[in-house]
Amino acid sequence: MTVLVLGATGKTGRPVVDALVARGVKVRAASRNPAPTADGIETVRFDWADRGTWEPALANVDGLYVVGPYAEPNGAVLVRELLAAAPLIRRVVLLSVLGADLLPDVVPMAGWEADVRDSGKEWTILRPNWFQQNFGEGFAASLRDTGSLELPAADATLGFVDTRDIADVAAAALTAAGHAGQVYVLTGPESLSHAQAMTILGTSAGRNLQYTPLTADQFAARLRGAGADDNSITWQLGLFTLIRDGVNATVTDTVERITGHPARPLAAYAAEHAVAKFSARRV
Ligand SMILES: NC(=O)c1ccc[n+]([C@@H]2O[C@H](COP(=O)([O-])OP(=O)(O)OC[C@H]3O[C@@H](n4cnc5c(N)ncnc54)[C@H](OP(=O)(O)O)[C@@H]3O)[C@@H](O)[C@H]2O)c1
Repeated sequence: MTVLVLGATGKTGRPVVDALVARGVKVRAASRNPAPTADGIETVRFDWADRGTWEPALANVDGLYVVGPYAEPNGAVLVRELLAAAPLIRRVVLLSVLGADLLPDVVPMAGWEADVRDSGKEWTILRPNWFQQNFGEGFAASLRDTGSLELPAADATLGFVDTRDIADVAAAALTAAGHAGQVYVLTGPESLSHAQAMTILGTSAGRNLQYTPLTADQFAARLRGAGADDNSITWQLGLFTLIRDGVNATVTDTVERITGHPARPLAAYAAEHAVAKFSARRV
């Protein structure tokens, strides 16, 4: 089979490509700026905002991993339109988010989930908790430069999940029977506060890393100051409301049940990445 992996340069798409290749599956890795890969994996240009890129990307593909058009102004309709443009695709795995049905209307995930369910395909929906990889990617520069993470998460805990575990579940759902019609809530093995996460990452990095809670208003003001629009601020605040309400404290055994291996703990991610990502800059 051939699987088209959308968002193949991102936090889940990269390990989904790896997990599929490890299973001997032919992969087409999509990006808005595809670059040749050292390992000969086929790459293709795909842009949700450019319909001309859809057909070549979808040609002769029977499986699809969807990272949705979260930043597109008309993103709410695009997953449905892409699925309609891909009649030959049999299996679809959608990356959604934990609590998709509880988020504000500006967040399109619940609609994408409905589109996938209605597509007539063998679908699987993944609802992951927050990614461990956020610390080493989105938050890395601030952690490295200031040793500090400031978020409106109060002292709530989250079952931070390693995106390689999400990828292993996605690869299973795309290549094996028994996952059609399933919604999988994916988490790490334990529920940790951001303060506990900072202790784990700081211990591995050999420095003090600190978490400081912000109010929702403080966080919104920072996002606004950084140029975020109202929709994106509402989206971010919605995610943090779920966290403060305890929704993300969830820990499931789904990773182990589907993949046969335990979910990776944050301490393992820290041991692999903390020194490179978070050590203070040498001047
Ligand atoms: N981060 C979390 O903790 C978390 C948890 C649960 C769910 N999610 C969901 O996961 C999704 C990805 O979020 P992320 O922040 O972690 O990003 P990411 O997967 O690390 O990166 C986003 C990917 O999307 C691709 N992309 C962006 N705009 C595109 C466009 N117009 N057309 C085609 N591809 C495009 C990018 O590829 P190119 O730049 O190469 O084109 C990149 O590979 C979001 O829907 C988010 O809600 C995230």
